[in-house]
Parts: sequence; C-alpha cells; structure tokens
Amino acid sequence: MLAAAGRGERLGSDRPKAFAKLRERPLLAESLERLEGSDWIDEIVIVAPPGWEEPSILVAEELGCAKVSACVAGGETRAESVRAGVAEVGDEAAVIAVHDAARPVLPGEVLERVLTALNEGWDGAVPAVPLADTIKRVRDGQIVETLPRQELVAVQTPQAFLAPVLRDAIAGDLAGATDCASLVEARGGRVTTVPGDPRLVKVTDAADLELVASLL
Ligand code: CTP
Ligand code: MG
Repeated sequence: MLAAAGRGERLGSDRPKAFAKLRERPLLAESLERLEGSDWIDEIVIVAPPGWEEPSILVAEELGCAKVSACVAGGETRAESVRAGVAEVGDEAAVIAVHDAARPVLPGEVLERVLTALNEGWDGAVPAVPLADTIKRVRDGQIVETLPRQELVAVQTPQAFLAPVLRDAIAGDLAGATDCASLVEARGGRVTTVPGDPRLVKVTDAADLELVASLL
C-alpha cells in the first residue's frame, strides 16, 4: 500500500506533497513505479489525498501500473489513511507492506528485507537506521533525560506485517500513531528491525526534494 494522502504542509506547495514535482514527475510516481517493478508485490492500493483519486489513477495508468487494484481517499492522519487503504486490500493477501509516497527512493532490497523477516516468524518488520546524534528529552527548555543511543534507531518505510496483525492493529485507537509498527507494538505484536537505507529519506521540505532528486 502506498500512503500518499498527506497535505504536505511543511513542503508548502500549492498541491499535496504526493503531487510535488520530482524530476518533472509527481512525487508518488517514483515509489509507485518501484513497487510495480518489484517481484515481491502482487497488488498495490494507493491512498490518495482526498479529491486527488483521479489524478492518482492517471499517474498509475501513465506508468502502466497493472498491479494497482484500488485508489481510495485518505483520512485526517496517516493512521486513518492506512486504515482506509487496508480496507481495500484483498482478503487473499497474507502480508501487507505500507510505504510512504514521501520516501520516493525505495530500494528493492529493503522491500525484500522486510518481507523476508516475516517468513522468520515476526508479526512485522521495519527498516531502521542508527542515529548519528545524541537524543535528549527536553521539557520547558530543560533537558530531563539523555537516551541511550545504542538502543535507539530511526525507522523508515516500507513497514511489512502479517495481514491479520495489521488489520487488528488499525481496528483500535489510532490516536498519536506516527507509524504502523507502533500500533502493532501496542497490541503486543512482535516487530523486528531490518537494515534501512539512507536513500529512504523522507521528503519533508523543499530542500529534501533536491536531495532526493540527487539520489535518483
Ligand atoms: N500521509 C497520509 N495521510 C495523512 C497524512 C500523511 O497518507 N493524513 C502520508 C503522506 O502522504 C506521506 C506519509 O504519510 O507519504 C508521511 O507523512 P508526512 O511526511 O508527514 O507527509 P504530510 O503529512 O503530507 O506532510 P506534512 O506533515 O508536512 O503536512
Ligand atoms: Mg504529516
């Protein structure tokens, strides 16, 4: 599933982030093309910005994406968008991978890594990268805690889950969830990490678009 429904407020464009231009193409084209080209993916559900379902389908058609089975409007939050997308995933799917359109440079090996981990008995798998900076908790301007960096990672997408596990996780309370794994963890699901990739940087502001373009 491709989560592309965000507004992209921090990018500050006149259109949703998924339609910001990356080398003359809408941002979502890059990840869509890569998902379509992966032997690991059978079916793609696009979660589009509300009102942008038709343009999203057009992008998929122009790319010749035969795997796109549905395109639905997303919700107010990422988790609500994922819920809308999961509802469109066919019952026969044993595994669901959720990817952010905001991370256009999706290396095939990362997809392979998260999906392979599910064959090893995990409920879910997410790409993770080590942190370079020391992370601190700050309250009212004062540092109250320095977290042990060796235990900390930054997680990316695609995040893959056994389909029943993800369906169960998004049926519950979605408040505050910034990724799918946290919802699964909250329900006691066992989620592992696999090596992520620096190319999976998330486009947040205009400078990120240039950075990502240089990685294509
Ligand atoms: N997303 C979504 N539905 C939402 C919010 C986010 O599908 N209601 C998706 C975005 O399209 C993006 C991914 O989740 O691919 C990560 O979100 P983020 O980078 O925060 O994108 P936006 O929410 O669009 O950006 P901003 O927070 O700056 O508005
Ligand atoms: Mg956001």
